[in-house]
Amino acid sequence: MYQQNKPHFLTRIINAGFEHNDVYGALNYPVYRNASFEFPNSEAIAAAFQYRRDVHTYSRISNPTVANFERKVLKASGAESVIAFASGMAAISGAFLSIAYAGSNIITSPRLFGNTFSFLTSTLSSFGVEIRFVDVNDLRQIDNVIDENTCAFFTEIITNPQLEVANLPEISKILRNRNIPMIIDSTLMPWCGFYAKKAGIDVEVVSTTKYVSGGATSIGGVIVDYGTCDWKANKKLGASPKPKGMSRLTFKLRSEITVNLGACMSPDTAYLQSVGIETLQLRYEQMSDTAYKLALYLSEHPKVSSVNYPNLETSPYKAVSDSLFYGNPGAMFTISLKSKQDCYKFMDALQIIRRATNLFDNKTLVLHPASTIYGTFSPEMKKMMGIEDNLIRFSAGLENFEDLREDINRGLEAI
Ligand SMILES: Cc1ncc(COP(=O)(O)O)c(C=O)c1O
Repeated sequence: MYQQNKPHFLTRIINAGFEHNDVYGALNYPVYRNASFEFPNSEAIAAAFQYRRDVHTYSRISNPTVANFERKVLKASGAESVIAFASGMAAISGAFLSIAYAGSNIITSPRLFGNTFSFLTSTLSSFGVEIRFVDVNDLRQIDNVIDENTCAFFTEIITNPQLEVANLPEISKILRNRNIPMIIDSTLMPWCGFYAKKAGIDVEVVSTTKYVSGGATSIGGVIVDYGTCDWKANKKLGASPKPKGMSRLTFKLRSEITVNLGACMSPDTAYLQSVGIETLQLRYEQMSDTAYKLALYLSEHPKVSSVNYPNLETSPYKAVSDSLFYGNPGAMFTISLKSKQDCYKFMDALQIIRRATNLFDNKTLVLHPASTIYGTFSPEMKKMMGIEDNLIRFSAGLENFEDLREDINRGLEAI
């Protein structure tokens, strides 16, 4: 069981506190939809441009409602700094653009979310960054491919949709010795479900569209810096200034990457997600409970070839998942049927579960990854990424378990 520091997770987030007291005593932080902020004199506006966190000049750079959301994520994660982005992909690309340089290399798994794979292998590699794929469960392989130009190790906390779980604490021992940041996409595991620092994570990139947003209300992302990497000794960031209260990474992200890319979170999104994050733990626990029950049920059904969920005894990742996630690996699981045709028949017969691409909506979702997210990938690439044609991905929602089971039976009867 995940032991919480006091005050507990929900109490911390719900009472994260405002930057300035609201004049009307509003309990939810107001939405500041404006682009620009005025100052009483030239000295004051000049001072505001020195990236002070409690003043705002222009909403592409920072915004009070977005800062309020960042403060809640800070409370949730216990990290040193948090920066919000327009999407999970904006956070992922922002993180790599901050630390990668032509001639550098990134060590990662080929089992990545499709757009992350494409960003690394198409977008970033065209600027001279080498992507070195490894089996992240093979520690020796990781050790062997590192060289003096390795700027990061990156993987997903639970890979989507393969549900692989790497032994992050062991990998971290290899990286720490060489001051290589461990950057983890932790979209599939909310902060109430694991200890990032204990796992050795230096930086998280998260699509807050998923668990955090509170029922798929909006697209967003964050970069979370735990302050555990020595950025001063980092090849690219070592020369960056370090203003008081900010890491070199945070300063680079705030002063250059977010402003130059313009990939800022909107105040409306920040408002929705600030409310959404207040129920994060409740939704995660309920959805995960349903995912486990559905996965167990399906694993005993004769029409289902196999079920993949890290909490099942059949998962090769059960032990590492138990140690990292305290027996609760979240709301996503997959099933394999006999063929792609059977997958389509199953999905088309469903009446409660939705056919949609997203994760951790309040609604239960199914998707055939091979023909959607990975639809434009070649058969060879799909093979390398472990995307099978007979696989259906589930994201358990908040509906009643018995109703979902009935719907699943309807799908299976259609095969
Ligand atoms: C693991 C993972 N990372 C990143 C993303 C991208 O997030 P966004 O859609 O918010 O850009 C997704 C989206 O599905 C994802 O599943």
